[in-house]
Amino acid sequence: MTDRDRPRLADLRGEPNVYRAAEDSQLLATTAVSRVGRGDRVLDLGTGSGHVGRAVDEACGARVVASDLNPHACRRARDAGLEAVRADMVAPFRGGSFDWVLFNPPYLPTPEDQEWDDWMERALSGGADGRAVVDPFLASVRRVLAPGGRALLLVSSLTGLDTVRDTARAAGLVTEEAADESYPSERLVVLELVPTGGRGPR
Ligand SMILES: C[S@@+](CC[C@H](N)C(=O)[O-])C[C@H]1O[C@@H](n2cnc3c(N)ncnc32)[C@H](O)[C@@H]1O
Repeated sequence: MTDRDRPRLADLRGEPNVYRAAEDSQLLATTAVSRVGRGDRVLDLGTGSGHVGRAVDEACGARVVASDLNPHACRRARDAGLEAVRADMVAPFRGGSFDWVLFNPPYLPTPEDQEWDDWMERALSGGADGRAVVDPFLASVRRVLAPGGRALLLVSSLTGLDTVRDTARAAGLVTEEAADESYPSERLVVLELVPTGGRGPR
């Protein structure tokens, strides 16, 4: 896909309520499918249309729970055959519940005067620095990982990769680049997050 095909924030105003799977969704899904094992407990966080969760469910035989802040997305994920929970981040889930947490968050830096107010903004805007949702995710994800559990987080070079890595380290997570895809104006990266001291075999 070329940079021309990547939708601009402004082009997505007035879109339906749920993020349509795009190249970032596909990159996360492909990376997850190459890692998740049969029977693994997987949280597809910010599931949107359910694209990532479904891919893992179908290809890996994992036990997938989808969640999203957006009730329309939860409905869409249920229509796609996933168990879905409306939730802000990982708040309602018990500690140690998941072998994998997969997240394609809103990661695009969006100046305040360009923000709008609907579910598509919640899907796309990462606030002024792109990390308004990434940072609380990094601060909270470790709690819900089972021993040996890991997370996959999709971010863009526009999100500030070095800062994301530093924040992850401060939260007790080692980061490794699991996959990437380059476009003229940005690089999409899937970071694999491994709790410090939690590098058991997977
Ligand atoms: C870029 S979209 C990705 C959707 C889907 N996972 C995909 O890859 O196609 C980001 C999703 O995160 C959800 N989201 C944003 N903030 C959230 C939060 N605090 N808790 C849970 N989900 C959130 C949005 O509603 C949206 O569905």
